Amino acid sequence: MVAGQLSSNASFADQVLAWFDQHGRHDLPWQKNRNLYRVWLAEVMLQQTQVATVIPYYLNFLTKFPDHPHLASASLDEVLTLWAGLGYYTRARNLHKAAIAIQEQHQGQFPESFEEVLALPGIGRSTAAAILAQSLGQRHAILDGNVRRVLSRYFAIEGCAGKKEVENSLWQKAEICTPYERLADYTQAMMDLGATVCTRSSPDCSHCPIMNGCRAVKYQRVNELPTPRPKKQIPVKTVRMLLLTNKDGELLLEKRPPTGIWGGLWSLPELALEDDVAQACEQRWGCQIDHFEDQAGLRHTFSHYHLDITPCRTHVIKSSLDVREPGQQRWCNADNYKEHALATPVASILRQYL
Ligand code: ADE
Repeated sequence: MVAGQLSSNASFADQVLAWFDQHGRHDLPWQKNRNLYRVWLAEVMLQQTQVATVIPYYLNFLTKFPDHPHLASASLDEVLTLWAGLGYYTRARNLHKAAIAIQEQHQGQFPESFEEVLALPGIGRSTAAAILAQSLGQRHAILDGNVRRVLSRYFAIEGCAGKKEVENSLWQKAEICTPYERLADYTQAMMDLGATVCTRSSPDCSHCPIMNGCRAVKYQRVNELPTPRPKKQIPVKTVRMLLLTNKDGELLLEKRPPTGIWGGLWSLPELALEDDVAQACEQRWGCQIDHFEDQAGLRHTFSHYHLDITPCRTHVIKSSLDVREPGQQRWCNADNYKEHALATPVASILRQYL
């Protein structure tokens, strides 16, 4: 341990908390009437999504499902529909699974121990810590993306996220910085500091409460830390997505199978670029078309591949229902497509073409 490190870490939390009292966010909906369910829901929605986007979804979700038993008794379809537009739908599937697990494995009581919360579907170490710290004031270190950036800079920790030594070192710093009191506030404060001051590309060091002890500032390395991940090469796949429009101007949506990418979400009928469009429309979707027209393509990137999508406009002159499976396909219009839980690129295609 470097001389003076412990005492400076003790004041680390004090400084962060003093800043939070003045500049942090205090009126977020999940800061009111805190309980395990409400904080859990917020933390899951806030994974990969900004606060401003989450708030209306959060309030709407709480109105429909005020507690975990209500959520557990809903169908997955209802949950996905409320989630429509938030993206990263695996979160919604896991939330639903976890609510059912609480009913079945925890006799309907939301678990209060770190190990049990961590074992629920969709909850990693930092999320479990954030839930218990904010709802019950338990002392656990958090290390989400924002906190990772603050600590990487403050302690000048080099190396790519995901590497074992880097992870261990960050978690160790996160542990020693965590105070013994005001855990809910400290947790929110660290997230707020990362989101509003210690931002990735334009950190506002002159307004940072911990600038004096920050090694990245001292060594003028703020812009180099945290070490960026190397860009990995991933394969490119292609697909054509059909905008099958009927005479009423409605589009055909198709529900994806429950597993695989976009499992259970609504999407557009898909075919390979080399498939014959008119033949596929007739054989797979029971639609005779007069012509088709490819539109400007878009790329959607998953962690393991890019998907280059070619939207294709087609006009249906005749459709027969019998080729389609009931419940798995639906004609929708500009008013009702938003009620469907759509795969993210499909939502943007529909915004553009409907
Ligand atoms: N990201 C994850 N949890 C958060 C929270 N409680 N407040 C703001 N952003 C967050």
